[in-house]
Amino acid sequence: MGLIPQHFIQDLLNRIDIIDLIDSRVPLKKAGANYKACCPFHGEKTPSFNVSQTKQFYHCFGCGINGNAISFLMEYDRLEFPDAVEELASSIGLEVPREEGNDNRPKIDNSLYDLMSKIASFYQQQLRSANGKAAVNYLKNRGLSGEIAKHFGLGFVPEAWDSLEKLFGSFAKNPKLKQQLIDCGMLIQKDGDSSRVYDRFRDRIMFPIKDKRGRVIAFGGRVMGDGEPKYLNSPETPIFHKSNELYGLHQARQANRNLARILIVEGYMDVVALAQFEITNAVATLGTATTATHIQQLFRTSRELVLCFDGDKAGRNAALKALEHGLPQLREGREIKLMFLPDGEDPDSMVRKVGKDKFEQLVERSHSTFDFLLKYLSSQVDLDSVAGRGQLVHLAKPYIEKITDPVYRELFTQSIAVASGLAIDKIESLLSNSTNNITGKQTATKPTYQANHNSGIPQDANKPNKASNKSVQLAITLLLQQPTLGLSINGYDWLLSLNSSGPKILHEILEIIHKNPNLSSGALLEYWREKPLYARMSQLAIAEREEKIRGNEAQELQDCIQTLLKEARNHRLSTLQNKSMEQGLSSSEKAEYQQLLLLSKQ
Ligand code: UTP
Ligand code: MN
Repeated sequence: MGLIPQHFIQDLLNRIDIIDLIDSRVPLKKAGANYKACCPFHGEKTPSFNVSQTKQFYHCFGCGINGNAISFLMEYDRLEFPDAVEELASSIGLEVPREEGNDNRPKIDNSLYDLMSKIASFYQQQLRSANGKAAVNYLKNRGLSGEIAKHFGLGFVPEAWDSLEKLFGSFAKNPKLKQQLIDCGMLIQKDGDSSRVYDRFRDRIMFPIKDKRGRVIAFGGRVMGDGEPKYLNSPETPIFHKSNELYGLHQARQANRNLARILIVEGYMDVVALAQFEITNAVATLGTATTATHIQQLFRTSRELVLCFDGDKAGRNAALKALEHGLPQLREGREIKLMFLPDGEDPDSMVRKVGKDKFEQLVERSHSTFDFLLKYLSSQVDLDSVAGRGQLVHLAKPYIEKITDPVYRELFTQSIAVASGLAIDKIESLLSNSTNNITGKQTATKPTYQANHNSGIPQDANKPNKASNKSVQLAITLLLQQPTLGLSINGYDWLLSLNSSGPKILHEILEIIHKNPNLSSGALLEYWREKPLYARMSQLAIAEREEKIRGNEAQELQDCIQTLLKEARNHRLSTLQNKSMEQGLSSSEKAEYQQLLLLSKQ
């Protein structure tokens, strides 16, 4: 299916009232200009969940969660983005259009799901038949009950090259079916004679892999003896992308109405064994490292992720790797923890050894992300030496840069400052992409000539200064909170001449507002959903401003724009000055220069 066009999403957000939407799921009470309820995303007794009708945006002061109508459905109904849009659209009787063209995802043949489901039932039935005796014994020896085996749909595939042909009937008569089974990875074409095929899985215990909705999309097959490979997995297919999928996620969501915490482990057997011990919140990656997509998906289901690793060096490295994907996704109310098992143990062996309660205590005692990072980084250097403390800052830098939440970023930078003895603002100035500060990165500029002193223009006129940083920030905040204010700002392309990211963002916001004059805050934010700035922008949209002169926002915005305009002029002026020193000015440039000089003296 093609992408959903942005204009449709805007139109949809325009027609929906977030108050109706949320009220139908979480009854709201009117409180002043806003609506309130006890937050549905964290336990609380006094309501701190606020919904603004004018902004079309919700925000919980308790757990920090916020967003527009689409975000609410994603979080509350646990839907993926396109499904949330579908749901919203159907609630007002709209059909979701799809863009043709720039969609390179292959069309999915839905009957592949049916085939996989039939195969899974067949394997399950084989496990119960006389063929499956050894397999049942194997599972029993590993401590699994029939009930758990059934719950996970475990099965058995006999030792034969043609079990699937026996199940489905002659492939010669049904070439389409044969091709589908090849496509979903269940049949392999023979080398040299591609018309001949054989079963990928033979004589193995079969673990069906389900997607979030519970459809079988792949299999993992374990040998019962010492054969190689120990686990054989389905290849990538149109319906199975292993770096997006998690084994056991469907079952975990089924078993728990509210999954407060999810445990991420390495193996199929770990998930199943934990479930045997009534620990039903574990999922496993499928022979890959934890990816950003995994973390993103899991945060949609739960607020706390505990990543479980071996206690050895490999485990620690895997943890660090996972954090690279995890850090950018942390924000208030979301937690990633790390659990390290004793050498040689995996969750399966561990839970059998210590039992449910002790295992759960171990989970409770897992390390928080930042404690682990600080401890690990500090252990890599000698903090008693100047060189070591310097190294600490350098080692920490790439991690700090991955933290997008400004509060976490500040707190972690602070702890590195304490450990290294380097002032926090010094560390901050070493960081490259300061997403922390929306006015962000400043491009290096050429120093101006001494002679400029006489002209009355500050020497650093072409560097964004503090006042203009503040103006950009305030202007962005005002526009995010009241997009219609932007309609009174015309001719703002000069913002692009300011060499830093803030004015460019401001320009982008103004463009969007001028193209969509009726935008609410919630709809405006939609433009950044998939971008790194999203979290920061959402915060600004709900930020309490220092200057609380209500009703004077239009003037405030004008003042910001004037400050920036002045800076843009100074910038241009000093560029022209440099040019006149170096190579002289054309006559139109001279005229421009004169005019700018006049304006700068006003
Ligand atoms: P492990 O080797 O740790 O196996 O692989 P395990 O989960 O402890 O399995 P048991 O207890 O011996 O039965 C962890 C995961 O790595 C992938 C599988 O997803 C497995 O669950 N793996 C491992 C493979 O894909 N192929 C292999 O040959 C081995
Ligand atoms: Mn194991």
